[in-house]
Amino acid sequence: MTADAAPRAEIPSTDADSGLIDSTGEESVLVLDFGSQTAQLIARRVREQNVFCQLVRHDLSAERIRELNPKGLILSGGPASVYGKNAPHPDPAIFDLGIPILGICYGMQLICEAEGCRIHPGKSREFGRTTVTRRDHAGSRETASDDPLFEGLPDALTVWMSHGDQVENAGEKFVSLAVTETCPVAAVKHRERPFYGLQFHPEVTHTQHGSRLLANFVRGVCGCAGTWRISSLIEQEVENARRRVGNSRVICGLSGGVDSSVVAALLSRAIGTQLSCIFVDNGLLRKGEAEEVRRRFGEHFQTDLHVVDARERFLSELAGVSDPQQKRKIIGRVFIEVFRHEAKSIPDAHFLAQGTLYPDVIESGASADGPAATIKTHHNVGGLPEELGFELIEPLRDLFKDEVRRMGLELGLPEDLVWRHPFPGPGLAVRCLGAITEERLETLREADAIVIEELKKANLYREIQQAFAVLLPVQSVGVMGDDRTYEDVAAVRAVQTDDFMTADWFPLSHEVLGRISTRITNEVRGVNRVVYDVSSKPPSTIEWE
Ligand code: XMP
Repeated sequence: MTADAAPRAEIPSTDADSGLIDSTGEESVLVLDFGSQTAQLIARRVREQNVFCQLVRHDLSAERIRELNPKGLILSGGPASVYGKNAPHPDPAIFDLGIPILGICYGMQLICEAEGCRIHPGKSREFGRTTVTRRDHAGSRETASDDPLFEGLPDALTVWMSHGDQVENAGEKFVSLAVTETCPVAAVKHRERPFYGLQFHPEVTHTQHGSRLLANFVRGVCGCAGTWRISSLIEQEVENARRRVGNSRVICGLSGGVDSSVVAALLSRAIGTQLSCIFVDNGLLRKGEAEEVRRRFGEHFQTDLHVVDARERFLSELAGVSDPQQKRKIIGRVFIEVFRHEAKSIPDAHFLAQGTLYPDVIESGASADGPAATIKTHHNVGGLPEELGFELIEPLRDLFKDEVRRMGLELGLPEDLVWRHPFPGPGLAVRCLGAITEERLETLREADAIVIEELKKANLYREIQQAFAVLLPVQSVGVMGDDRTYEDVAAVRAVQTDDFMTADWFPLSHEVLGRISTRITNEVRGVNRVVYDVSSKPPSTIEWE
């Protein structure tokens, strides 16, 4: 019976803790990873409290933990049952380190089991939203209400549960702090040692006051002051990169987007002229994008910037191709060929830097500190294959998008770049529906630039996560002056989304829609009609192809 409904593909358990950041000089908390989908989210929530936090493998030795000197440990959830045959366990000596420990879901069961409680399958499983009620312990000195973990929280909370097993009885050593209808021990505290457990997941947004609970643990229980800033992470990553790279060179593929730009800025700070950036102009970019990259990275960063003009090559390979998957395949293949060719001209490069973020890692099923990086399989255009023979540097691998944005600002990247909407690897090819020609791309580029300009003017750009124009493969009849026209149709797409897996169409006002439409039909030659896409994902996707 699993204790976590959403297990990851594998639980990291490697000998080398290569990706670990040495946090000995810093106030920090470690999350021991037992394989839950949300383990990295716990680390992110702790970092939101300005306390450095990283995910480490679940069996990191107590000795190594002592060296890292964290102020607290959090044991994550996980898919196993603590009584299962191959259930992952921490080094038992961690319970004698004198460091406060919080167990979440499976992690709570581990703590309780280590202290003699029995864990069994619950009579009914709990998945999804549940109400947790704090418990008063008549006859005991402790009450839930004066416990630091629940400090400032209401008596009942809606929380996110995901468990089949449970602790039936808190026993002699623990106090049950909260219950649900079916779970008698939904939160516990040890009577003598600084150990706490939550059967629910405080790290997910569905849990009310979840961040406060984690804040209470790291500040109230562990005594962290919260002095860490994203700038400390930059320093740590800079230090890491310097150590790894030595005298070698690093190649970084720049796409013009925020992730690769942050990686380039970080590495430029770390190793300066030992960094070579490759920017492939595939002819499928947005208006002014190539010039912008050249200006920003050529002028402001002292890096060796290789701009490869591969526009003709891409467009000739794409000529006459209308099928979206076919387009993606061609673009992916040509990109790798062009990149490989350019990379060969850079001597002594042993490393390839990539802007992989944590959600990409989880999407591809790779473990957080697993030995090999897996290239995203679903949207793999722009991803480079391992056969290129480089060692990978992925300094953003543990971070979420908003943390990367903060890092970008801290590194001095301009706001408009940091807040730029994501742009797919195959670029305008999947927004220019049907066959691609230079002329149609130019039309699309102009229409797209107007959409973005108008959203910025209306102060909506940051409220919308992705917006763009699409050029449809149909012509429609119109009238201009006294003449009948038969021209292209442009669609406008604008969506709001948390994670791009689902999305809602954005209710743009009639005024904004009107301005966009008038400007496109007036200013973009060849377009006489504009339509607005009012479909959500699902059933539609964000892109049209
Ligand atoms: P869909 O269209 O699948 O898009 O709802 C979700 C997000 O993924 C982006 N996207 C891509 N990104 N290569 C990429 O790098 C691709 O082939 C690709 N297709 C879609 C899309 O822009 C949106 O942000």
